[in-house]
Amino acid sequence: MLILGIETSCDETSAALVEDGKNILSNAVFSQIEIHKKFDGVVPEVASRNHLIKIIEIIEEAMGSVPLADVDAVAVTNGPGLLGSLLVGLSTAKGIAFTRGIPLIPVNHIESHMYAPHLVNDIPFPYIGLVASGGHSLIFRADSFHDYELMGTTIDDAAGEAFDKVAKVLGLGYPGGPEIDRAARGGDPDFMKLPRMLAERPEDRYNFSYSGLKTAVAFRMKGMTLDQETVKNVAASFQAAAVGALLLKAGNAVEDTGIKRLVVSGGVAANSLLREKLELMKQAGIEVFTAPLEYCGDNAAMVAGRGYADYTAGKTGDLRTDAYSRLPFVKKGKRVFG
Ligand code: KG4
Ligand code: ZN
Repeated sequence: MLILGIETSCDETSAALVEDGKNILSNAVFSQIEIHKKFDGVVPEVASRNHLIKIIEIIEEAMGSVPLADVDAVAVTNGPGLLGSLLVGLSTAKGIAFTRGIPLIPVNHIESHMYAPHLVNDIPFPYIGLVASGGHSLIFRADSFHDYELMGTTIDDAAGEAFDKVAKVLGLGYPGGPEIDRAARGGDPDFMKLPRMLAERPEDRYNFSYSGLKTAVAFRMKGMTLDQETVKNVAASFQAAAVGALLLKAGNAVEDTGIKRLVVSGGVAANSLLREKLELMKQAGIEVFTAPLEYCGDNAAMVAGRGYADYTAGKTGDLRTDAYSRLPFVKKGKRVFG
């Protein structure tokens, strides 16, 4: 089954052709990073306008010489994300599906991040999943694509958001994740003593507080002269604490459930220190799966892949075909997806 995936939830305009959820024929991505850089962050209205400008060109690039008649369904991100941006992808996808008379598969953005490592790996269930992106930080237990339970999340900022904010305080550019990753190279991770995130609170065994970490960094930076050496050391200290929290909390979930399989995705999964540490986890006997760098950040291949998993399991009926900006599947108390 050939699926055209479309992704416009934030600042990447992307389209991809993926066969049977695995065979990636194309994955065209236009990143708006250069456009938003001068604002030090994503400006929603500017983002939606640029999606409008690029969407057709990017779909054409993804299609290459494949005729539209060969496409069996269109999968599209319908949220969570920036509403105006989502609407561009969603309206375009609806137009294609309607005129071709093929199914439209709405895809949850976080679920598509969760799917990314499956694009290039055969991952058995159950596993512990970790999604760390600019908008979300989640730990969950997955028993299948459609049976998983949220174990922990952030109580305030997301991991990527903290990278972006600390980068700003350090005078580094947007997006902060790659900038801090670069700046931290060769820096001293023990330069700044930072708290172990919510480690002492049993009720927060799988939860994060990245706003707390960001505040701790800002507080300890007071009075410091930000020369190159200091920036490098602060970046290294923050990165070690931020990555350490992801590993600590995911490690807790692995330990408590006895499921020695960890699947890591989302923009922050591109972080080089995190990837290094995950290699060490492998050596300690935990099976670890991640996505290659190009599928960590926002891309349409993961949308097409997730769309295939949903469609073939008959799990698309309960998803909305309009755009939404918030995560709809988190219920109070027991948090269950999908
Ligand atoms: O998943 P994603 O592309 O978009 C969202 O759904 O949010 O994640 C973007 C986030 C940004 O906050 C960015 O700073 C972060 O991922 N990021 C990184 C790295 N590359 C991107 N964070 C840490 N290290 C990186 N190398
Ligand atoms: Zn994303």
